[in-house]
Amino acid sequence: MALADFLASLDTLAQQARDAFASAGAAEALEAVRIEFLGAKSGHLRLVQKGLGKVDKSDKPAAGKRFNEVKTLIESAFNDAQQRLAGGGPSETLPFDVTLPGQAVRVGHLHPITQTIREMKDIMGRLGFTAVEGPEIEDDYHNFEALNIPLSHPARDPLDNFYLKCAERAAGDSATHPLLLRSQTSTVQIRVMEKTPPPVRIISLGRVYRPDTADATHYPMFHQIEGLLIDRGVTMADLKSVLRLFCQSYFGGDDQVHVRFRPSFFPFTEPSVEVDMNWQGGWMEMGGAGMVDPNVLRAVGYDPEEVTGFAFGLGVERICMRQHNITDIRALYQNDVRFLSQF
Ligand code: DAH
Repeated sequence: MALADFLASLDTLAQQARDAFASAGAAEALEAVRIEFLGAKSGHLRLVQKGLGKVDKSDKPAAGKRFNEVKTLIESAFNDAQQRLAGGGPSETLPFDVTLPGQAVRVGHLHPITQTIREMKDIMGRLGFTAVEGPEIEDDYHNFEALNIPLSHPARDPLDNFYLKCAERAAGDSATHPLLLRSQTSTVQIRVMEKTPPPVRIISLGRVYRPDTADATHYPMFHQIEGLLIDRGVTMADLKSVLRLFCQSYFGGDDQVHVRFRPSFFPFTEPSVEVDMNWQGGWMEMGGAGMVDPNVLRAVGYDPEEVTGFAFGLGVERICMRQHNITDIRALYQNDVRFLSQF
């Protein structure tokens, strides 16, 4: 390509870019113009740069020099337009207007599930519950046996759990207990009670794993919030009050959420309830709860004649979904920034 033609194409491009940036009236339009001219893959500038390779070798230095000048020129036209739209005047030397009190910088933010978890810890913290952690790789004693789930119970089925085949075990694990990815955070109840004499008032938030097929309301990994309160004279009324208070604080008032308790069965609580919340004209199951079964208290060395307690385990995703009106749990884990940046 002749040098004159290449330089002419650069001049035309510079003029077009200047006009386009000057007439962009809003941030979205400006971004479209930026992509059109400065886009890394197929922006006009990039395409013209490819033409540089076709210029005669002896003309390359001159062509390259002018290309760089035009590139700088277009970039500053973009910066000026950005300043104009942000309300500041164009600046000769700085990419922002120093007379403005602040500069909006788009940074990342927390995943909606992390936000939900933090908010839950905050609310339960105000109700006097301390957040504790437990291991995600558990032995079947803590995941089942200590929770009064006998060997023959279907919840232990290998098809319903992620058992691990591993040669190595963490120090202290009993070799007789198979390991698995915990299927419920109720394991943490046992780990805490084993180490702490009553009273106990804890929550635990974390991941649990079940080989479920992913659909709109199920995912093979999800999060639970587990709560446990053990003391003298704790009753079912305390459980219902705490759960209602929690839900009302989280969703913003008792006109925002209705909580329903349905009689149910869990091996580690007696009586047991399922906890539902109203959503989209129906009820959504959020998890389970109940009064800690005396067998569980005995397994950790507590005296069920002395102390009683309640426990609950709710699905964090479901609560997050209800809050943001997300109708498909999978959206939370596809990591599509367009979806995530809404929250
Ligand atoms: N762990 C149960 C589940 O994952 C939920 C649950 C029910 C937790 C009753 C509790 C409870 O603490 O008391 O389905």
